[in-house]
Amino acid sequence: MNYLFLLSFLLFGTCKAGPRINCFPEPNANQSLCESRGCIWNPVTSEDGAPWCYFKDGVGYNLDSQNGSVYNLRKNNGPKNPWGADFQNIQIRTSSIGSVLNVKIGLEGRYEPPVDFPRATLPSSETLFFTTASSEDLFWFSVIRNTTNRKIFDTSLGGLIFSDQFLQLSTYLPSENMYGWGENAHQTLKHNFSRYLTWGMLARDQPPNSLNLDTMNLYGVHPFYMCLEPDGNAHGVLIFNSNAQEVTTAPGPSLIYRTIGGNLDVYFFPGPTPALVTQQYLAFIGKPFLPAYWALGYQLSRYGYSGLDEMKQRIGAVRDAGIPLDIAVADIDYMNRYKDFSTNDKWTGFEDYVSQMHGWNMKLIPIFDPAVEADYLPFQDAQAVQAKFIEWEDFSQVQRDIQNLYPMANQTKIMLGVVWPDRHVAFPDFLDSTGRTQAWWKYELELYHSKLSFDGIWIDMNEPANFGTNEQHPWYFDDDDHPNDAPLFCPTNGTNRWELPLFQTHAVYYYGGNENNAYLSSKTLCLAGVQNNGTFRFYDVKNLYGLTEAIHTQAALMEVTGKRGAVVSRSTFPSAGRYAGHWLGDNTARWEDLRTSVIGAQEFNLFGIPFVGSDVCGFLGTSNEELCLRWQQMGAFHSFFRNHNTLGEPAQDPAVWPAVATATRIANLFRYQYLPYLFSLHFLASRDGLTVVRPVFFEFPMDTATFDLGYQFMWGSSILVAPVVYQGAVTTNLYLPNDVWYSLFDYKYGSQIDSGYITVPSPTTSRIPVFVRGGSVIPRQTPTTTTTMSRLNPFELLIAPCQLGKAVGVLYWDDGERIVNSFDSHDYHQLDFSFVSTSSGASLTITRTRKGSITLPTLDIIEIFNYPSPPNFRSFLLNGQSVNINVQSSTYSGITKTLYISTKSLINLTSADVITLEWNNVSK
Ligand SMILES: *[C@@H]1O[C@H](CO)[C@@H](O)[C@H](O)[C@H]1NC(C)=O
Ligand SMILES: *[C@@H]1O[C@H](CO)[C@@H](O)[C@H](O)[C@H]1NC(C)=O
Ligand SMILES: *[C@@H]1O[C@H](CO)[C@@H](O)[C@H](O)[C@H]1NC(C)=O
Ligand SMILES: *[C@@H]1O[C@H](CO)[C@@H](O)[C@H](O)[C@H]1NC(C)=O
Ligand SMILES: *[C@@H]1O[C@H](CO)[C@@H](O)[C@H](O)[C@H]1NC(C)=O
Ligand SMILES: *[C@@H]1O[C@H](CO)[C@@H](O)[C@H](O)[C@H]1NC(C)=O
Ligand SMILES: *[C@@H]1O[C@H](CO)[C@@H](O)[C@H](O)[C@H]1NC(C)=O
Repeated sequence: MNYLFLLSFLLFGTCKAGPRINCFPEPNANQSLCESRGCIWNPVTSEDGAPWCYFKDGVGYNLDSQNGSVYNLRKNNGPKNPWGADFQNIQIRTSSIGSVLNVKIGLEGRYEPPVDFPRATLPSSETLFFTTASSEDLFWFSVIRNTTNRKIFDTSLGGLIFSDQFLQLSTYLPSENMYGWGENAHQTLKHNFSRYLTWGMLARDQPPNSLNLDTMNLYGVHPFYMCLEPDGNAHGVLIFNSNAQEVTTAPGPSLIYRTIGGNLDVYFFPGPTPALVTQQYLAFIGKPFLPAYWALGYQLSRYGYSGLDEMKQRIGAVRDAGIPLDIAVADIDYMNRYKDFSTNDKWTGFEDYVSQMHGWNMKLIPIFDPAVEADYLPFQDAQAVQAKFIEWEDFSQVQRDIQNLYPMANQTKIMLGVVWPDRHVAFPDFLDSTGRTQAWWKYELELYHSKLSFDGIWIDMNEPANFGTNEQHPWYFDDDDHPNDAPLFCPTNGTNRWELPLFQTHAVYYYGGNENNAYLSSKTLCLAGVQNNGTFRFYDVKNLYGLTEAIHTQAALMEVTGKRGAVVSRSTFPSAGRYAGHWLGDNTARWEDLRTSVIGAQEFNLFGIPFVGSDVCGFLGTSNEELCLRWQQMGAFHSFFRNHNTLGEPAQDPAVWPAVATATRIANLFRYQYLPYLFSLHFLASRDGLTVVRPVFFEFPMDTATFDLGYQFMWGSSILVAPVVYQGAVTTNLYLPNDVWYSLFDYKYGSQIDSGYITVPSPTTSRIPVFVRGGSVIPRQTPTTTTTMSRLNPFELLIAPCQLGKAVGVLYWDDGERIVNSFDSHDYHQLDFSFVSTSSGASLTITRTRKGSITLPTLDIIEIFNYPSPPNFRSFLLNGQSVNINVQSSTYSGITKTLYISTKSLINLTSADVITLEWNNVSK
């Protein structure tokens, strides 16, 4: 045995310690408390954040018996659970749902999230299979990819704990290239396994903190990750659980997942490419809704408009600056004292203005909060039809000092809280199985729509947020605009198992624990509450509130307007993308927030919510010219594209600064020009479960340099965007994976750009770096200031050939607003484009593979990069017939090698199923 071998044996053989599994995540661990749990106290000074108090090895279960795919486990002799009695017997049930492997650890009859996934599957060329092993006193299992025999999930590190209110599952990962989990403010796209980090997951009205590394739980919950294995294969994992939960990413690389209810119901998606993982995941949980075409337009919003006049003034200023703008957004200011379904006096004439905006082809998206004041007509309407609200379990719990103030509620168990309205509010129960609540919600929206013709809906505060829960002196006592309503107090002072589970998760510990008045019910309703006439505990279903509100809000919007529109929701859960989009919450006007929003939008595409974006220019805090300019430029590539600002801050719409106005106009015109491509990406996302904004590694999973390119992203498979995200930057460093790329921005527009690490100029007067990938045909349209008018303009094609002179692309087109019941019956066109160029000439073939009923504008412009030699403009044949090319407007540049063909009504796209345009080059 040589010395090196011995050394490595000592280091990695006998001495290699697995990751520490935290035995004292609560605040204020110390040696005696730790040891009283039977755990090891070993303070470490390294900076990897390893817990000082951790479990001894061997936490887990033994295999008792097996019956086919059911494994009966029995608690072993290893360490006991400090947070409640271990269940002595649990089961693992494994099954294959098409290509999806389900490993469900738990017991029959326990709470299961009432979420209706389609559970459809897509075939895979590879299989993930389940296998078990054990040592003397520990059972474990692995999930293995059949083609490579790689373990993609490996629970041999122990740590399986199962009690009523504490469940834990630990696994080694096959690589550190892991993405996802949410909702959190991630500062990098790829997780970092060099240290221990615990990410909270409990829906909370919590503005993201992007300034420092912050692992707090935010508005939604997405227990889903994607991992790239060392050989480039990708897989996805969903833990289908809706309780308060968290995950620790730890050296190993490993994961330690904890939740406080339900089962450990784990679904494995085999890929083997990142795109296939997403397709399999979205087939299973449900594919995203298709936003109305106009919803891809630019949105102007702010909180704190003094009245309708100010909204008119700011919209007027943006329109006057020639900035494409589609949507006016109204925050709670428009409501009468913040009550849903009412209009404030300062907004008299709002409906007239909406009519006027509709005349300009603009749309309105107003905000609605879920909670309704317990003393006005909509609440009375709800009572009259027996709509339900989140309730106390029994009358003895009702907080009488509040309830007695509301004759409409005083005989009910409805849990009254405090949000924006002046008096206490009730929270509709969207899990009501009688359907009455949903019918009432629709009725209110319909009635209000008859007064204010909105086109889309923004649902906020649906974690659900409640102000001042358990606080003697909530913030609003000191707010001029909010009366001192008695706060809601939850039964946190006794032993209530829902309010005070033995393990309360980092959603409590990060906020200082119970000693600092932090509870699971902080900023929300009491977890002891119930829904659906007592059949669901709020403790279990809280994380589903935003999802269930979105389901019924989308249904109501479609019924009320007869169109598909768009809903955007703050709180989300897996499958929320079927019903709504998402904005990344109450960010701050800081460069750090611009950066995390670039990452967040990629993550929400992984979660199946591609209609996503951030509050452009920053919501909280004071924005500034340079930041706002850069954010507008970046946001122009996010599907949900809204400038939004908070109360009391100076206006930050792009018309405020001439330079921002100019940059925004340029960025928006580019977006509006490429809308047919962006819409087609959404169409594919919705029909086939693809992403729109996607990480670069989705397209280049074999290129390790793409694995952590958080600040660059792809728009579909053909366009790469490298936004400017640093203050003062006039150049941008970026990475172009090995392929053919052409510039689509000011620097060398149309020229081929070498792949690799490059630095390009990106002054504020230029578009941000954008590139098109060789091999692409991109549909576009001449842009104008609304999506509706842009849609009527002639089509254009951008052709970026690959090295062989070929390119392909596709356009999906419908009327932009009809409801999609099924893509099989939906009325749409699909046009496939195929281009090939040789030394003697070129041909473009347009094949209509799906015929819709609406008329398409003509194709008038074709711009071709890297075109080798001058074409003979007299040689053009359209379907074999000679066609005149306008030689005044058509050009060829031998320097940039760009061919620009422009002829009015060149191709009638509706004229035939196959259209060919071909031509010869000038012979030498
Ligand atoms: C540990 O914490 C407990 C509870 O706060 C306290 O009573 C005890 O004195 C502490 N022990 C040590 C060794 O600090
Ligand atoms: C094993 O499972 C099968 C199918 O679920 C069931 O019919 C059978 O009774 C089980 N056997 C035992 C010994 O539990
Ligand atoms: C892996 O699984 C796939 C899908 O079931 C199957 O087609 C393939 O033959 C398997 N490959 C190996 C090497 O077992
Ligand atoms: C509820 O309020 C009404 C009106 O103030 C009152 O008549 C009634 O007695 C109250 N009921 C309860 C249960 O407090
Ligand atoms: C707990 O709080 C409730 C409501 O504030 C109060 O009525 C009750 O007396 C308290 N119980 C204890 C044990 O302090
Ligand atoms: C609600 O629950 C109560 C108590 O369990 C039951 O008596 C009642 O019938 C239920 N109501 C409905 C509408 O299901
Ligand atoms: C395009 O072709 C269709 C089908 O032949 C025809 O009905 C339509 O009028 C044409 N449109 C134009 C603008 O010529």
